[in-house]
Amino acid sequence: MLKHSWIIILGLVFALISFMLMLNNNRKNNMEYTLSIIKPDATARNLTGDINKFFTDKGLKVVAQKELTLSEEQAKNFYLEHKERPFYDGLVSYMTSGPVVVQVLAGENAIAKNREIMGATNPENAEAGTIRKEFAESLERNSVHGSDSETSAKREIEFFFDYNEITNKK
Ligand code: CDP
Ligand code: MG
Repeated sequence: MLKHSWIIILGLVFALISFMLMLNNNRKNNMEYTLSIIKPDATARNLTGDINKFFTDKGLKVVAQKELTLSEEQAKNFYLEHKERPFYDGLVSYMTSGPVVVQVLAGENAIAKNREIMGATNPENAEAGTIRKEFAESLERNSVHGSDSETSAKREIEFFFDYNEITNKK
């Protein structure tokens, strides 16, 4: 009886240590989550699959994804930081003009990595091999959105997703 208790305790200790090592590893690798949006110009051209390949080829995983059409109120709130900018009204009407795909990407340094994969805001300045260089139609119709910091990633993921909608793909 006593012998069996020891085996159970050893098992539990082993499981706890493995769990702690896993958490520590995730922290060391800087595992992050970021919000991505495939914008109306891209969904209109059925580019979701092609764009997702850019992410997965570079080691990011799509851990949540849904297609929806933004209401005017949602688009205004999502881009609230740009409220005073001259392009705000045009941006809101463009973002509500057709379906978008909102998604959570996960991976090492996912926030900065996604911004690299996307390329510069203005496709004329985007580097070869980036999504915007490849697919963007203009500065406004630039195919993808990506969170630009940890703070905005948290806000933007919570804007669209509940915790239980995000999978934990390995
Ligand atoms: O999307 P990103 O973070 O690269 O750029 P932003 O400065 O946060 O701007 C948000 C979005 O507004 C851009 O992706 C463009 O679609 C649009 N925009 C525009 O239409 N005209 C500008 N001069 C700047 C941005
Ligand atoms: Mg931005």
